[in-house]
Amino acid sequence: MANFIPDDTIAEIRHAVDIAEVISETVLLRKAGKNLVGLCPFHAEKTPSFSVSPEKQIFHCFGCGSGGDVFGFVMKRDGVSFVEAVRALAQRSGIAIPERELNPDDQRRLKERDSLFEINRLALEFFCDALRRDPAGPAALGYLSRREISSRAVEAFQLGYAPKGWDTLLGFMAKRRIAPAMVEKAGLAVPRKDRSGYYDRFRDRLMFPICDESGRVVGFGGRVMDDSTPKYLNSPETPIYTKRRVLYGLQRAKDRCRALGSAYIVEGYLDLISLHQAGIDNTVATLGTALTPDHIRLLTRYAARMVLVYDSDDAGIRSAQRCVELFWKEHADFRRGDVFREDQADTRILVLPEGHDPDSFVRRHGAEAFQGLASAAPGMVSFLAETAVKRHGLSTEGRIRVVGELMGPLSAVNDPVAQAFYVQQLAERLDVSEAVIREGLARRRPPAAQSAADAPARPPGGSAGVERFERRIVTMMLQFPEMIPEILERRILECFTDGPMKRLAADIIAGGHRAGTPVADLLSRVEDAGRRQQLAEIAMSDEVWEAKGCRTLLNRFVESRRKKAVRRSLQQEIEAAEKGRNEAEVMRLLSEKQKLAARRVGPRAPVAPER
Ligand code: CTP
Ligand code: MN
Repeated sequence: MANFIPDDTIAEIRHAVDIAEVISETVLLRKAGKNLVGLCPFHAEKTPSFSVSPEKQIFHCFGCGSGGDVFGFVMKRDGVSFVEAVRALAQRSGIAIPERELNPDDQRRLKERDSLFEINRLALEFFCDALRRDPAGPAALGYLSRREISSRAVEAFQLGYAPKGWDTLLGFMAKRRIAPAMVEKAGLAVPRKDRSGYYDRFRDRLMFPICDESGRVVGFGGRVMDDSTPKYLNSPETPIYTKRRVLYGLQRAKDRCRALGSAYIVEGYLDLISLHQAGIDNTVATLGTALTPDHIRLLTRYAARMVLVYDSDDAGIRSAQRCVELFWKEHADFRRGDVFREDQADTRILVLPEGHDPDSFVRRHGAEAFQGLASAAPGMVSFLAETAVKRHGLSTEGRIRVVGELMGPLSAVNDPVAQAFYVQQLAERLDVSEAVIREGLARRRPPAAQSAADAPARPPGGSAGVERFERRIVTMMLQFPEMIPEILERRILECFTDGPMKRLAADIIAGGHRAGTPVADLLSRVEDAGRRQQLAEIAMSDEVWEAKGCRTLLNRFVESRRKKAVRRSLQQEIEAAEKGRNEAEVMRLLSEKQKLAARRVGPRAPVAPER
């Protein structure tokens, strides 16, 4: 979010606009105590869990976890960047944004990006024009009509044609005084081997422009119109095209995704266009690359339900499995409710019948059949279970392996109801008792986590007691920043064991949060969207703190850490004594351990009112 708008101006804009007023334009809000509540615009719900605090100037949805300040809201609602959101709100409040001097490097980068956008825009014009005027244009249109692409879709997706020849595009650019080196930078030309010049990257191909969310062309894909290879050629990554962040068709699909609360994710250009033609226009495409965390983050801004659609071949299944792992293993953040909650974002895997891709399927069987398959598509857990069963079979050994493979994904399901349901389903499928699976799950969690039945949805692996402690300290830092100096001085944060809480605490400190400054100001200084949401959620709580209670909490925390250290060293002594067969010493140490356990401190002492 390294933006070019001075902090002062951002604060000025924030103070000039009222978050409640801005949100009211999209969400029907009614009063509930100090807050306003309504139906969340970011996920489908029937009872309102979306709250706005006019006092704190923040919003938070208890359903989907989204939250932030007024800029965050506009970013998410309009799918724009922070700077764009600030500009939009500046405009409506009539505040001028001073053009701060950029450093020369930034200036150069910004100018270069602008020219790359412009070159891509010109290239789009050129390719579209060639589809109508080039002598080979009719053949290209003929190919499109054989693929049953309507002329409306050709318009809508701005399809074009890259003519034969080695420098038709370069020639077109040269007339506009654009240097070949810049055309290369935009990914549209390639330097000759002998370095004597450049040639057009795309020749005699059908052209598909790839746009970013706001509709600017960032790259192209080009398809041959016969069986030659490579079938598709794509723009390389450039300063304006990062493949793992771009979803083909998102700009056209996003409103529909939001309206329907769901999105289809397919692989190919023509799959997307075909579905779109069939009226299934809440569809985006990854363009053959594996789905990335960035893709998901981007898409969850618009849809909570996702259907990942794959061809029936092995590659499709493998890729589906990669996705599942991506959701569960690599990106624990998704599960923490920062950006994405697996159990709320209902994600299904649709593997099409043998021999079909989305394009061929929908043309052959129609939109209803496609949607029918989608509604019957398994969720990620069931999908994983089925593919594991296919791999390992249902022999005793096979079932043991299947249960083993499913432990990770199952324990990552935050929602206890959903988890119980999956456990039951899996038990039935494998014909084992639920207890077996539950025990496996329990073994993956430290004991403290199990007893925290009253704790909110939380990720596996942490210890609930400590986590609640640490969360309350973070809450205190937000609500009562007067304590921050003491927290730093006592090195409290160094004892944090919960990584995400520690990062939030670091954000609060790095953001220079002080007494008397609104939480909303802090939020706009936190770059990570997920952490911004978590901070908003925590700030929404109405705990009231005063110095004395704060100090008590800190003391208890320090004490609990100390006890933990004592416990650990006691345990080591016990083990040593056992090894040395010193029975008397073992007994003495064990009774000491028992005494310590009896005096366990917890975070639930009446320090500040629970919310
Ligand atoms: N792809 C690619 N390069 C290739 C093959 C595929 O970039 N050599 C990408 C394209 O984005 C393509 C997607 O992967 O759209 C899916 O590939 P595939 O299933 O082979 O193509 P289709 O989309 O089915 O294309 P078509 O129907 O035109 O054959
Ligand atoms: Mn195809």
